[in-house]
Amino acid sequence: MTTPPLSIPPTRAGARDRHEPLLEVDNLDITFAGDDGPVHAVRGVSFRLGREKLAIVGESGSGKSTVGRAILRLHPASARITADRCSLQGQELLTLSEREMQKVRGQRISMILQDPKYSLNPVMRVGEQVAEAYLAHHRIGADEARQRAVAMLETVRIRDPRRVYDLYPHEVSGGMGQRIMIAMMMITRPEVIIADEPTSALDVSVRRQVLSTLDGLVSDHGMGLIFISHDLNLVRSFCDRVLVMYAGRVVESIAAADLDRARHPYTQGLLAALPRLDRRQERLPTLQRDPAWLQASSEGVCA
Ligand SMILES: Nc1ncnc2c1ncn2[C@@H]1O[C@H](COP(=O)(O)OP(=O)(O)O)[C@@H](O)[C@H]1O
Ligand SMILES: [Mg+2]
Repeated sequence: MTTPPLSIPPTRAGARDRHEPLLEVDNLDITFAGDDGPVHAVRGVSFRLGREKLAIVGESGSGKSTVGRAILRLHPASARITADRCSLQGQELLTLSEREMQKVRGQRISMILQDPKYSLNPVMRVGEQVAEAYLAHHRIGADEARQRAVAMLETVRIRDPRRVYDLYPHEVSGGMGQRIMIAMMMITRPEVIIADEPTSALDVSVRRQVLSTLDGLVSDHGMGLIFISHDLNLVRSFCDRVLVMYAGRVVESIAAADLDRARHPYTQGLLAALPRLDRRQERLPTLQRDPAWLQASSEGVCA
């Protein structure tokens, strides 16, 4: 029997059209049952994700994480979710059985969260956690899983992966912890990664390493990345396209390179509120919100 290659080869997907949609979301609507009545957290959100880096930006509470979690159906039972479509390569996700959904989670769509401290098991060696992520979905021996995990640690640019394999989470730095999380999420070769503020807890130099790891995974392996962030400056340089959310709606969908031509006043306001190196500003303008934005329909804003 031949052993399959251990490192991830530049994929099957790499050669395909990067605009071919992996994920298609139409008219996604999410309401939570709150103590003071229902909270309508996401309103008519529509977008497509190809083999690209798509940012979802917006202020805290705008519904970004709720969209990310709903795609994986990780919302609380009390939430009401409707959509005309929420599909992965043509397969509708909202109507899958829980069992089928478990195969999608981790194997076809992975989620990377903000802080590895809460996602890694503190009493288990980090390498074993990566190997276990693979074993959960594949019938292979422990030795092969170990080799695959070491190779994956190398792919996420961890130096001396054999040594790091045996460390416990408290023995690794924040940046390395986040790359171990990425290794865990990547080892099953998902088609889509949803990264929810993956670098917000990291300092600037480590952030750059993690972003470049994610970038390599998207460009070399043809994955689609949803990058959730409140940092417009960051996504502007890192992502291909940007969805701007405000109060549960997508108010703008725009190529990152075109952000200077953003049409929605909220996007313009966010941009104006960013500090700039190329011109001196005494005070940054404060974003003035228009109540009309809350009524605005998301119609016509479809990525
Ligand atoms: N489990 C929940 N129960 C009730 N309300 C929730 C729940 N999760 C999120 N919300 C509400 O949904 C809205 C959007 O939240 P969230 O998606 O976390 O925003 P963001 O990620 O953009 O900061 C907020 O008003 C939040 O309070
Ligand atoms: Mg969030």
